[in-house]
Amino acid sequence: MTAPHSLRVEHLPDPLGITVRQPRLSWQLPAGSRRQVAYRIRADGWDSGRVESDQSVLVRYGGPPARSGRRVEWQVQVWTDAGRSDWSAPGWWEAGLLEAGDWTARFIEPDEAEDVRDRTPRPAYLFRHSFTLAGEVKKARLYATAHGVYECHINGRRVGDMELTPGFTSYGSILQVQAFDVTGLLEPGENVVGAIVSDGWFRGQVSGFRLTNLYGDSVALLAQLDVTQDNGSVTSIGTGPDWEVGTGAITEADLYQGQRIDLRHARPGWSAPSGAFTGAIGPGATDTDAAGAGGTDTDGTATGGGDHGWAGVRVRDHDLSRLTSSPAPPVRRVEELRPIAVTQPRPDRQVIDLGRNINGWIRLESLGPAGTELTLTHGEALDPDGDVTQANLVPDPEANQDLQDPEFANLALPLQVDSVVSSGRPGEFFEPRHTTHGFRYVRVEGHPGTIEPDQATGVVVHTALRPTGSFTCSDERINALHDAAMWSFRGNACDIPTDCPTRERAGWTGDWQIFAPTAAFLYDVAGFSTKWLRDLAAEQQSDGLVLHCVPETMSMRALKKIGAPPGSSGWGDAAVIVPWETYRAYADVDVLAEQWPSMTAWVEYAARAAREHRHPDRVAARPEPAVHEEFLWDSGYHWGEWLEPDVWEPNIISTLAVADHGAVATAYLHYSASLLARIAGILGRDDDAVRYRNLAAATRAAWQTEFIRGDGTLAPDTQATYVRALAFGLVPDESRPQMAQRLVELIRKAGTHLGTGFLATPYLLPVLADAGHLDIAYEVLFQDTPPSWLTMVDRGATTIWEDWNGVSENGIPYLSLNHYSKGAVVSFLHRYTGGIQLLDDHPGYRHFRIAPRPGGGITSACVTHQSPYGSIKVSWRLDGERFQMEVSVPPGATADVRLPTGSDLQAAPGTSYYECRHEAGA
Ligand code: BGC
Repeated sequence: MTAPHSLRVEHLPDPLGITVRQPRLSWQLPAGSRRQVAYRIRADGWDSGRVESDQSVLVRYGGPPARSGRRVEWQVQVWTDAGRSDWSAPGWWEAGLLEAGDWTARFIEPDEAEDVRDRTPRPAYLFRHSFTLAGEVKKARLYATAHGVYECHINGRRVGDMELTPGFTSYGSILQVQAFDVTGLLEPGENVVGAIVSDGWFRGQVSGFRLTNLYGDSVALLAQLDVTQDNGSVTSIGTGPDWEVGTGAITEADLYQGQRIDLRHARPGWSAPSGAFTGAIGPGATDTDAAGAGGTDTDGTATGGGDHGWAGVRVRDHDLSRLTSSPAPPVRRVEELRPIAVTQPRPDRQVIDLGRNINGWIRLESLGPAGTELTLTHGEALDPDGDVTQANLVPDPEANQDLQDPEFANLALPLQVDSVVSSGRPGEFFEPRHTTHGFRYVRVEGHPGTIEPDQATGVVVHTALRPTGSFTCSDERINALHDAAMWSFRGNACDIPTDCPTRERAGWTGDWQIFAPTAAFLYDVAGFSTKWLRDLAAEQQSDGLVLHCVPETMSMRALKKIGAPPGSSGWGDAAVIVPWETYRAYADVDVLAEQWPSMTAWVEYAARAAREHRHPDRVAARPEPAVHEEFLWDSGYHWGEWLEPDVWEPNIISTLAVADHGAVATAYLHYSASLLARIAGILGRDDDAVRYRNLAAATRAAWQTEFIRGDGTLAPDTQATYVRALAFGLVPDESRPQMAQRLVELIRKAGTHLGTGFLATPYLLPVLADAGHLDIAYEVLFQDTPPSWLTMVDRGATTIWEDWNGVSENGIPYLSLNHYSKGAVVSFLHRYTGGIQLLDDHPGYRHFRIAPRPGGGITSACVTHQSPYGSIKVSWRLDGERFQMEVSVPPGATADVRLPTGSDLQAAPGTSYYECRHEAGA
């Protein structure tokens, strides 16, 4: 390859309709080159000329500013050590509607009866509009968004393959617009454009409380079709008063509760011009409103649906200044799985087993004769009789008094239950697209026959993130653990990073803070995190407080009721840690600059809380505050280490509400302040760098004064405290060996078991390895009695459990079986076992370390990462004492190589081979 390749705009491969005015461009250097010395970009008449620079990642476009709808083609040429390259193949981006004034469309809403508006779940609405085009179409773009989730149809065909658009954002401040190239869908003459809109996150059930109407009480659609015709004329067809609305086959749609489709009420041809619908279109492109219930048209007499059952719409002028493109890829149907079994635990029910726990839905063929009603209940586990159980997902009202409150009444509603009534049309099938489920098993009730495995498909649905990392080694159980962590992330990446895809589906800040670095190795999450961080900032309170979940799913009122107000350390710190980790992985400085006000507001909030409040126990023990307490954050509600082994109890919140979390909160205040000091340095904010360096030093000193006891142990004397102390640099350098020794003692005391919860688990093995206890790290990794990761694997987990006791010895499930946080352990496999280490001072793996640390009897490992510069690979094999390794470094990057013997070498771009003697335990 003699030209730069892998062109990207911002972090997107196909940037259609972006609202970034001066996007950043990236490319990878031609194979065989080592170092870029200059580049030249040309883009639609603009020419950067030769620019002396080694930058090839996120280079800002400096040409004429974007105009709405304008498509820019660009190419890049580079000068490297190998000389001048050819011009790259062209890349492109196309601007969306940049100004509110570009919208001729107006929001439209159904005029909904009050009794429908007040209940949950509600039906999906069909909006449609017919129009005439005089001549051939040269170019057509559809821009659309909704309050709710929408899918557009034109002339009987589904538009695009994005699901659950416009995605989940802080709708009050940010509403994403999707752009679609619909040139091929329009014809001269009559055309119909339509959309199916359901409640989605906007007003459907959200959070563990299943609250509704969090962002508004009506669904709405905004869509604009901009058509350029052959004669150059431009027509804009937008939602407005002349559209019509109706309901059809989707009689209920809720992301939590499920979807109900009555195929007898389907409206084939609803989005087709009169008489034009031909039927038989196939999955994903059907023209019934039943979201996949197409196949063939009833009797070939589609009427275009325009003659009955359609009503006028209400036009609303909702805020257009919120409209923006997404920095992240859309949600798609990413993969399909064939069931591994269909069983019949009782005569009236069949259970489909997908073989793994996913987020998504089921596509089912064979729906039985007309009028047959099937009920599909989705769960993560089976009960002792082999039937689907949801016992681990639905709260036990007996055990949790708070849930008696009428505000939480929806908790009694079914969870993840779809139903479908057959119309008996041949070729008909069921596929809901206005709900998702976290499940491995589906119970089907009401089926008159036997469901064959090839009649059911598990559809995996999540953000279509680019895979960037892989790991395999000689130990199959470790590979299974890696797989489970990967699938847990996939199950929790449905437009926002969630805790679980079942019970809460919420963007818990702590969970993403914990897992984001691991995710960034496995997938390109740059845009995904950037999108979420904008919501975090949008919902941050004026005093800097960060909500528990982003976007908001819980309501302050509900949280106060249960006694868990937001502002928790380790969770709110996502405001600092996630931008930092995004910068590290992708060399994206803009994310730091953009989030700077948010991250500093959070740290100032925490610093103020430390200064102004004291924990009642400390007041009682020491009426006059000690000097260091100014920097001790011991007030407020915190989740603490959260879910250490055997600490969960149903009323844990009331215990946490009165507990002293000073050791955790002050540790995070120190860590976030020290990150801010570094970030300030990167952004050239020298005064801020000094301020946060001082704050970091003062909080560290306060932590030491308060939590290092006279005998040199820490308070509380738990594994998590030592792990955090070592990971965050909280203890004096000279006492690190002693702290690590105590951590080892605690692990040994627990029978070589881990004792960490959410926050410290990702650091446990790295801290041990760094402190000279690699052997213990591997012993803990390979531990297979509970609590341990391999217990999960041995008990059949295909995703990571929320609690260390996720499935009991006798197979009883407990809490969610799909929470990625504890899966962050696989970062140890990437960085230590495999040995690819990202260095703080060289973001984007421009210069990185290769330092595999074999152990645990693993005899070979292979780890790869697609960095912004290109492909990194480390593959090693241990043959007795002979250690052999192959490494690849992409052009434009360099690496330090540390062999297990300790010798340090340098690796240049290309593939290199190493060999040395390795003694076990080294
Ligand atoms: C969620 C978590 C979350 C936690 C707060 C749980 O209910 O599922 O993952 O971080 O609450 O501690």
